[in-house]
Amino acid sequence: MSKMIVVTGASTGIGAETARLLAEGNNIFIHYNSSREAAEQTAAEVQERGGTAHLVQADLFGEAGCDALYAEVSVMTNRVDVLVNNAGGLVQRQAVGELEWGTMERIFALNTFSTMLLTSLFVPLLEKGTDPCVVNVTSIAARHGAPTATLYGAAKGAIDSFTRGAAAELAPKIRVNAVAPGVIDTPFHERYSTPERMEKFRKSTPLDRNGRPQDVARAIRFLIENDFITGETIDINGGLFMR
Ligand SMILES: NC(=O)c1ccc[n+]([C@@H]2O[C@H](COP(=O)([O-])OP(=O)(O)OC[C@H]3O[C@@H](n4cnc5c(N)ncnc54)[C@H](OP(=O)(O)O)[C@@H]3O)[C@@H](O)[C@H]2O)c1
Repeated sequence: MSKMIVVTGASTGIGAETARLLAEGNNIFIHYNSSREAAEQTAAEVQERGGTAHLVQADLFGEAGCDALYAEVSVMTNRVDVLVNNAGGLVQRQAVGELEWGTMERIFALNTFSTMLLTSLFVPLLEKGTDPCVVNVTSIAARHGAPTATLYGAAKGAIDSFTRGAAAELAPKIRVNAVAPGVIDTPFHERYSTPERMEKFRKSTPLDRNGRPQDVARAIRFLIENDFITGETIDINGGLFMR
């Protein structure tokens, strides 16, 4: 049966690749915020791969955007099988000695609050799904300190914790898991990392390369398919950080 799959932040990078990988035979709700053209490109590729694409625009810096995303999806379907909370970003680098309340709010709003609120809003539709699950996207930054990205790491760490709590609370009907990407080559790093920094990451990675969006998308698909995993966070980082 065709799955109803919502992928937030599916205009570029990991989200776009996840939408493409999950496309065949499924309905993919491709959420984006500002990258309309890229989202249309993802939608075209989903269609080419035998999926049905629905574009949904929403700014997830605030509650209103989460509500709008949910409202738009719920007009189109009365059940959801998979919610991938992928939209996020570093937003702004800030040193621990110079933290500002507004920056804290924005980083947590986009990464953490939107993940938590969307999960909550979608519970009734997920309850009507088949083997329904949520996959959240955290980060290696939650595990080891990343200077000037400490707020981002803390926001992702909160998602990690939320994942386990939600998994316990929503079982046995809805599974909740997460992926923690390492350094993945996406537009994210075009904004926040110099080529020199990317090369340094590569050299520090035991598997001797930075990640690709498909490395993460495959782990997301694995978590969707394996119905005996919940409350888990999978690291996809080439060995850059080992637990
Ligand atoms: N790349 C890495 O090394 C890495 C490592 C660890 C974790 N991650 C996480 O992986 C996820 C995907 O990142 P990526 O690497 O694929 O980067 P990306 O290509 O920059 O994708 C980010 C996605 O989030 C969306 N987004 C950004 N701000 C938004 C807002 N205000 N409202 C709604 N959506 C917004 C973007 O939409 P628009 O462009 O349409 O605005 C885009 O689709 C993020 O949660 C990121 O924190 C990435």
